[in-house]
Amino acid sequence: MTARLNVNIDHVATVRQARRAPEPSVIAAAIMCEQAGADGITIHLRGDRRHIQDEDLYQLRRTVTTYLNVEMAATEEMMKIALDARPDAITLVAENPNEVTTEGGMDVRGNLSLVRAAVSRLREASITASLFIDPEPHQIEAAHEVSAQQVELCTSEYSDATLGARSFHTEGALRASQELRRLREAATLATQYGLRVAAGHGLTIRNVSAVSAIEEITEFNIGHHIISRAVFVGLDGAVHEMLGAIRAGSK
Ligand code: PXP
Repeated sequence: MTARLNVNIDHVATVRQARRAPEPSVIAAAIMCEQAGADGITIHLRGDRRHIQDEDLYQLRRTVTTYLNVEMAATEEMMKIALDARPDAITLVAENPNEVTTEGGMDVRGNLSLVRAAVSRLREASITASLFIDPEPHQIEAAHEVSAQQVELCTSEYSDATLGARSFHTEGALRASQELRRLREAATLATQYGLRVAAGHGLTIRNVSAVSAIEEITEFNIGHHIISRAVFVGLDGAVHEMLGAIRAGSK
């Protein structure tokens, strides 16, 4: 079965926040993504509010008719917002105020009681609890221990190995295939634990098909590349391209 695509629209808000202007509208972007065939919308409400704002989340909750997934750190401030806004899913992530983007998966194993408490509050509110982790067996086991329903495997190491000239060198291609194997093994293990498996970070129309060939992965969260392509081909075209690339791998 082809994996679902949630389009991460953070960078529509990045352009808006560059001017603190009313446009471009994240609401219009979400509707357009859904009309283009996206299965859901993802946003990351960061502690520093560098792109998505609280009001965006509440408005999207009222507008999105497919599936709304919100990435956030497991802080008390964010948990309160999550429980109030009630998106379909919350993906807990590690957040570092100085990072340009999420730098890797969260350390579930090292923060068991904090993550367990957050997962339990989300599940009580009927919000799907997903954990963004590196494709490591000990993190998958920990995700199972804290009763998460889903893990999102961080694909940034794989994506990085496939970027530009790096992928043409034997070293880059070898690293990409090693990272792909790591993702495949992690997806298999997570499924054995009864966890649903999502994946994302740094994926593009050129590198996603190899990942969508991994049957256990049922959801992708992809943002930067889709919004970047939208500058040239429009948002509708960019979503279609990505849906096609995901489908191509799953055949
Ligand atoms: N998944 C998670 C947990 C993320 O933090 C991000 C980046 O916000 C993504 C997926 C999407 O990554 P990208 O923008 O590189 O597609």
